[in-house]
Parts: sequence; structure tokens; C-alpha cells
Amino acid sequence: MAERRTELETIHQGPFAAGAATASAAANIAFIKYWGARDLGAAVPNNPSISMTLDRCRSRCRAIYRPQTSRDEILLVQGGTLQTAPASFAGRIVSHLDTLRALTGASGGFRIETLNTFPHAAGLASSASGFAALTLAVAGSLGLTLDQKTASLLARRSGSGSAARSTLGGYVEWPRGESEEESYAFLLLPATDWPLCDVIALVETGEKEVSSLEGHRRAPLSPHYRRRLELLPERLEAVRRALRTCDLRALGEVIEEEAIELHLIAMSSRPPIFYWRPATLAVLQAVRELRAAGVAAYATMDAGANVHVICEPHNEPAVSERLTAVPEVGGVLRDRVGPDPVVAREAVP
Ligand code: PMV
Repeated sequence: MAERRTELETIHQGPFAAGAATASAAANIAFIKYWGARDLGAAVPNNPSISMTLDRCRSRCRAIYRPQTSRDEILLVQGGTLQTAPASFAGRIVSHLDTLRALTGASGGFRIETLNTFPHAAGLASSASGFAALTLAVAGSLGLTLDQKTASLLARRSGSGSAARSTLGGYVEWPRGESEEESYAFLLLPATDWPLCDVIALVETGEKEVSSLEGHRRAPLSPHYRRRLELLPERLEAVRRALRTCDLRALGEVIEEEAIELHLIAMSSRPPIFYWRPATLAVLQAVRELRAAGVAAYATMDAGANVHVICEPHNEPAVSERLTAVPEVGGVLRDRVGPDPVVAREAVP
């Protein structure tokens, strides 16, 4: 019987010569959240999600392919110097390199140098930008030019599903997909069509206690999870409509409801997960006060305590000032919707 070849297997093109490339990809903030998976390892989601790719919060990754060795070297750029990455972090990267080696037929080792421009693992989706940049840099170092669909599928295979959305700029949808191969992100609206801002109130910048991977695993244990999946189609459609019509009020009402529901599911999982801190509630209150004062600003949170406040550029200074004044807030990052990732190949080192 003929062996079934999946679409991903068609990128198998080895052997490859030595090469190097640098990719830069931005984090994204989900308007409709990915929470719960049919296949956790390959991040095949239970529900579609929609996000906005950011501009300033990014990961830059340099990959150097060395066909003569099978050893990987994983380095972090910190304070301008290269440091060996902690074992847990390096382990996740090597595991994705193994996936990429299996799919491309590359058999050599990679030297990876990676840098984040924002606090690591603080609910700012550093894994999304990190794995998107890693995937694109590795492909670039092998001399492969990935089409957008393959880039998204490969980034998703890292196990950090939201990385599938960081392979594109602008406003992005990642469908559930009937099969694994249909679950890749596509563009809903280019960044230039609606220049929204994301003012991020930093409440916590350390590692979160429960990883999103564990959150996905526990999500279906919440008695409210099934109902969430029933409610989502209407909410997804409301977000698509609000993006088409650039209607911030319509978008904002839905994304706040959605973010609260994500945390409701987390808090009612078994055992429960509490990502919020008292400061999270203080920021949510400040956002409601801004709205009462006529400033259109709406909050969302990923799996962490930080609050992303979405607003239009003319209100961004007022929002930043108000959030900075919340005593429990440690700092504010001013970001906005951003463009596609960038990949640059280098001459062979
Ligand atoms: O991509 P992961 O496995 O880190 O999960 C992301 C989960 C959320 O950030 C909470 C939601 C999302 O869609 O980004």
C-alpha cells in the first residue's frame, strides 16, 4: 500500500550545505484565545483563535547550520553577551530542532543565538515569537524559503501553538482545522488597515507558576469548558466583523469578555490555576475608569498576570499615563500592531 505523505513531508530536501540566517518575529496578543488542544505535542487546537501581532516585543534568532556535526549549541543574548541557555529552555529548542530536522532531512547541528526584547515568560507570549523566529531562522540557514502556510505549520509544531500566529504580521486567524495540516494561521487584516496600540501593564515579569502547556492540559477539566466551545463561534464572528469594520467598541467588548473567560476556565480547572495578581484587578479597574472618562480602551490578558490594553493611537498617551499611575504596576510597554517577520540570510560563516 502506498505510504501517505503529508504536506509537511514534501519540504524534505536534504542534504544541506552550511548556512546561516537571522529571523526577527514579534509576539502576539490573542483576542480569541487558544486554550486546550486535541494534540498537545503538535499544538492542534480545540478552537480557532485570533490575534494581533505586535511590533516592539520581538524575538531575534540567529541560526547557523553545521552539517559536519550533530551537536546543537543553544545560546541566549543577555545584556549584550552570549550565554549558555538554561537546560529547560535549551531542551525545548533542541526538541523543535529535532522536529525540523525530521521534516527537512537536515542531519547536522545548529548553533542558535536568541534574544528577546521583552520580559521572558510573563504572559507576553515570548514562546510564540521565539519559536516563530527559530523556525524561520533555521529554514533560512538551510537555504529554504518557506511559504506562509508551511512556516505557520512548522512553528505550530514547536508545541507553542500561538507561534503559528507569529509567522504573520497584522491581525491573524489560526483555525482549528479539520486535520492537523489544515491548522495554520492566515491573515485577516493587514497592520496598516487599522493601527491599534497595545499598552502592556507589567504586573509580573518573572516565570509564571503554571506553564500554558499545563493550562491547555487542564482546560477540559473545567466544568465550563464545553460551554466555552459552544459560545466561541459567535464570539469569533464578532471579532472578525469588528476587524472588518474597524469598530473598537465592538472589538473591545468581546475581547474583555473572552479574556475573563480564559481565566474563568483556568481558575475552575483541576487543580485550579490563578494567573491574576491583585494588581491585575487594579489595572482592570483603571481601564473601566478610563472608559467612564470617555477614553476607548479595552483589556485582555493571556496566561499571566499582565494586562494588555488595546486602544487607538490618539488615546495611547492617556492610557499609558493612567496605567503607569497604578501603584502596583511595575512598568508599561507601549507596543502596537506590527508587520510580518523578517528573515535575512548570511554568507556562510
Ligand atoms: O502557544 P501557547 O501554548 O503558549 O499557548 C498560548 C495560550 C494563550 O496565550 C493564553 C492564548 C493564545 O492564544 O495566545
